[in-house]
Amino acid sequence: MSRAEIAETVAAPYPVLVEGEVVAGFGRGGKQLGIPTANLATAAVEKALEDMDIGVYLGWAQVEGGDVMPMVMSLGWNPYFKNEKRSGEVHIMHTFDDDFYGKTLRVAVLAYVRPERDYTSLDALVTDIKEDIRIAHEALARPAYAQIKDEPFFRR
Ligand SMILES: Cc1cc2nc3c(=O)[nH]c(=O)nc-3n(C[C@H](O)[C@H](O)[C@H](O)COP(=O)(O)O)c2cc1C
Repeated sequence: MSRAEIAETVAAPYPVLVEGEVVAGFGRGGKQLGIPTANLATAAVEKALEDMDIGVYLGWAQVEGGDVMPMVMSLGWNPYFKNEKRSGEVHIMHTFDDDFYGKTLRVAVLAYVRPERDYTSLDALVTDIKEDIRIAHEALARPAYAQIKDEPFFRR
């Protein structure tokens, strides 16, 4: 299955700007896979992501007023909350020295990459996420995507 083409410009409804606290995930895997994720699961996030399809997105992220960095986000149902809430799991393409649980994460979601898939092996998941990351870097290098880094949202 091929990926949807990423739009040349940032088209409505994007950018979707979301700010929330980083909460603990299930701890199943990110770090073991070498792809750590920060979970956003506050009321504000649910509201902001309410109308969005389940799947993988690309955009920019910022931890507690720091540098704005490229990210890929998996938007899915969180079974822990009996499928009543969606959570956004954000992988930032940067190596951090520490965890940032409890910190404020700002995310500008700029494009949809693909639907969520079922995997029979972790290897297959990792292969797909690496492809998501490649696509994200490519898209974020375009001027229309790059300029979102300068949004007032990231300078509040
Ligand atoms: C960019 C990205 C794409 C992902 N795509 C999928 C997917 O298509 N299917 C899936 O089952 N999990 C996918 N995941 C993995 C899970 O959503 C999640 O990150 C993983 O289970 C670890 O979660 P935990 O830290 O809460 O345990 C993706 C994760 C990321 C960061």
